[in-house]
Amino acid sequence: MVTEPELLARYEALTAPAGVELLALLAGQDVTGAAGMRLSTRLRSRFPAQLVIDAFGQQELRGRAGGKFSRADQMFFTRAGWEQASAEVVAEHRRARYRGAAHIADLCCGIGGDLVALARDSHVTGVDRDPVHLWMAARNARAYEVGERVITLDADVRDVDLSGVDAVFVDPARRTDRGRKRFGDSDPPVAWCVGLAERVERVGIKAAPGIPHDAVPAGWELEFVSVDRDMKEAAAWSPALATAATRATLLPAGHTLVATPGDPVDVRDPGAYLLDPDPAVTRAGLVEDVARRTGAWKIDDQIAFLSSDSPVRTPFARTLQVIDSAPWNQKQLPERLRRLDIGAVDIRRRGLAGDVDALHRKLKLSGSRRATLVMTRSRDRPWALVCLDLPAPG
Ligand SMILES: C[S@@+](CC[C@H](N)C(=O)[O-])C[C@H]1O[C@@H](n2cnc3c(N)ncnc32)[C@H](O)[C@@H]1O
Repeated sequence: MVTEPELLARYEALTAPAGVELLALLAGQDVTGAAGMRLSTRLRSRFPAQLVIDAFGQQELRGRAGGKFSRADQMFFTRAGWEQASAEVVAEHRRARYRGAAHIADLCCGIGGDLVALARDSHVTGVDRDPVHLWMAARNARAYEVGERVITLDADVRDVDLSGVDAVFVDPARRTDRGRKRFGDSDPPVAWCVGLAERVERVGIKAAPGIPHDAVPAGWELEFVSVDRDMKEAAAWSPALATAATRATLLPAGHTLVATPGDPVDVRDPGAYLLDPDPAVTRAGLVEDVARRTGAWKIDDQIAFLSSDSPVRTPFARTLQVIDSAPWNQKQLPERLRRLDIGAVDIRRRGLAGDVDALHRKLKLSGSRRATLVMTRSRDRPWALVCLDLPAPG
């Protein structure tokens, strides 16, 4: 069992001249597989074996983290630290809420994904009880050239004195239950994080996207954030930082949607176009707002698809052209697709049970066009839609 001081000494070694040279040699290289093994054997004749092992581990994580951080090649990660870290595009978006805060406490700062963004405009104290993460947070702040505005504190966040701090960000560790993310099970719990607002007015909490709307008190904002239509996280904002009740934010473009009062939206059969809302819009409960903005209608009371007669273009939904729309009938489906010259389908299932892989196998497609087959419900009836992507605007 490696002790924390031993582990820290090994990371420190990676920042000493031999470690720096080795990491520079590995930069941009694929250190996995057979090629990685050969390279590792060669390098062990020049560098200590443990240093080579640690540098390879770091290089592999840097390679993976490239999708999250523009400076991943200069950063340090543990596997868990990288997995839990906020991506730069999200942390940068969040930074704007803290404008004007001179001193922010980043509680549970991990390897510093949020810290490096927050410290661009403010002094930040990063707190974590994992000394390895804390060491990495400080190094990573240097990689982003904000090290002089960052202090790190090895402590349990529940014991930290917040006097002198004028805003808090907390990203509690999420616990998993048999591999499945269960909401509410964070460390420290969301209820404790919400209570921070009694000590410091401006509080932001990062939470899993499954956070129920009633997990925060009235007056707080829940913001649901997606990146490239991939649901990433929720953030809860205390009343002093809130600007709406719920918000959907779509990154990287930064489109943002809040509820606007309006009439209930009609529920009708599908028309010529199908709108598939961004998952952040759906999680924020703002599907009807997209319908009101675009003149679309719902195809079912419970299902988050909208429809319209015109090719609506909105950042808040993907629009598809409907080329076939009928009650779900699996037996007739291969013939319908054959007549439409469909040779490949992406199956999108919402509100209708079924084994997508088994269906794929049964379709036996041979046409020349690619389509999206939507298995869903329309006005509470099982329904099938065959759709094409809208051509890019000319
Ligand atoms: C989700 S990660 C933080 C990720 C970070 N925001 C980032 O973007 O890199 C959670 C961190 O909380 C720390 N942690 C959990 N409970 C804690 C506690 N009670 N006190 C201090 N740190 C804690 C863990 O050690 C872990 O590093």
